[in-house]
Amino acid sequence: MSHTVIVTGGAGFIGSNLVRWILRWRDWHVVNLDALTYAGNLDNLRQVEQNPRYHFVHGRIEDARLVRQVIEQYAVGGIIHCAAESHVDRSILSAEPFIETNVRGTLVLLEAARACSIERFVHVSTDEVYGSLEPEDPPFTEESPLRPNSPYAASKAAADCLVRAFVHTYGVPAIITRCSNNYGPYQFPEKLIPLMIANALEEKPLPVYGDGQQVRDWIYVEDHCRGLIAAYEHGQVGEVYNFGGESERRNVDVVRAILRLLGKPESLIQHVADRPGHDRRYAIDCTKARQQLGWAPTVDFDQGLERTIAWYRNNQAWVNAVRSGEYRSYYRQQYGWRLSESSQGSSQEA
Ligand code: NAD
Ligand code: DAU
Repeated sequence: MSHTVIVTGGAGFIGSNLVRWILRWRDWHVVNLDALTYAGNLDNLRQVEQNPRYHFVHGRIEDARLVRQVIEQYAVGGIIHCAAESHVDRSILSAEPFIETNVRGTLVLLEAARACSIERFVHVSTDEVYGSLEPEDPPFTEESPLRPNSPYAASKAAADCLVRAFVHTYGVPAIITRCSNNYGPYQFPEKLIPLMIANALEEKPLPVYGDGQQVRDWIYVEDHCRGLIAAYEHGQVGEVYNFGGESERRNVDVVRAILRLLGKPESLIQHVADRPGHDRRYAIDCTKARQQLGWAPTVDFDQGLERTIAWYRNNQAWVNAVRSGEYRSYYRQQYGWRLSESSQGSSQEA
């Protein structure tokens, strides 16, 4: 019988790319367990919804009864846990949903994995648990201490600690992965790259936080998906693996590159009030994943950005659909004060 894996959060950005990747490159069945929050969208999976190896279950990971029922019904062998509240700015507005999904939800999944003797559990975490780097610091390794700075990062670090505890205490066969900033098709346009592309296409202002000198390490989403499968298939239980794109860029340079590729003027850039507690720099050392999983990032940033821009240009109906409803009130709340602050001259062009 073919293997069956649950992908939690399979209707989100990374989850939907991962579901498509698995169905294309493995003969497994995939059960997508997703609550369809504002970030979950079944349109992301239209290409695979008729695939007989794809199954969708609408529900929350905190629902212990449902989780166990799904594991039993589909004879699930493993779990790749992507579901989360994932946006730092939203966690600054309200941390509650982040504790509920990212901490309590992870606990429920771990309890179910333990009770149902799941063979493999990959917990999809983030480099943000390590905190922030100074320009001269070496990149984060798996040995770097956990120093989360935002409510989002704290909720992910708490979940990582639970995973570690369940491996050590109960022998749950779990692995933790920590990845840097992803970009690519189907990313919700609240995150930097899709927001800037969508705004630039409509010639709306591009809100750059503070001086725009913050640095992120960008990885194309398919490279992350390959890493997750490498960890699932070859990772050592109890180990942590970092993934990154080895493409550090200043935010303002990413935004300028988007404008250049779209042929739009830099005058669209608007420096707005900074994110409270904004981490200055993330960078990832993925030597361990390279050596122990045989994994490496393959898509270089310029090539990945061009592909991503082409996808958003060709999928403006998708963008318009996800930018309606809840998104409008979020955007108004989020950028209302940032733009009003900046018009008072509180932040400057880099
Ligand atoms: P996303 O916000 O695009 O998608 C999250 C998905 O989880 C959505 O489909 C949503 O409906 C679902 N979900 C949320 N709460 C749920 C709940 N309680 N029960 C079931 N489903 C629920 O997120 P993403 O950017 O695809 O991130 C996926 C994972 O990868 C997260 O765990 C995130 O912390 C991690 N991660 C993301 C990045 C990145 O750059 N996006 C980088 C490193 C790690
Ligand atoms: O590092 C991994 C993390 O990357 C993931 O764990 C998170 O789920 C994911 O959201 C992402 O977090 P960031 O906060 O780094 O991503 P975001 O796209 O929100 O912001 C990237 C940088 O761009 C950050 O320095 C803030 C800045 N920014 C963001 C937005 C949305 C702006 O300057 N303007 C914006 O409008």
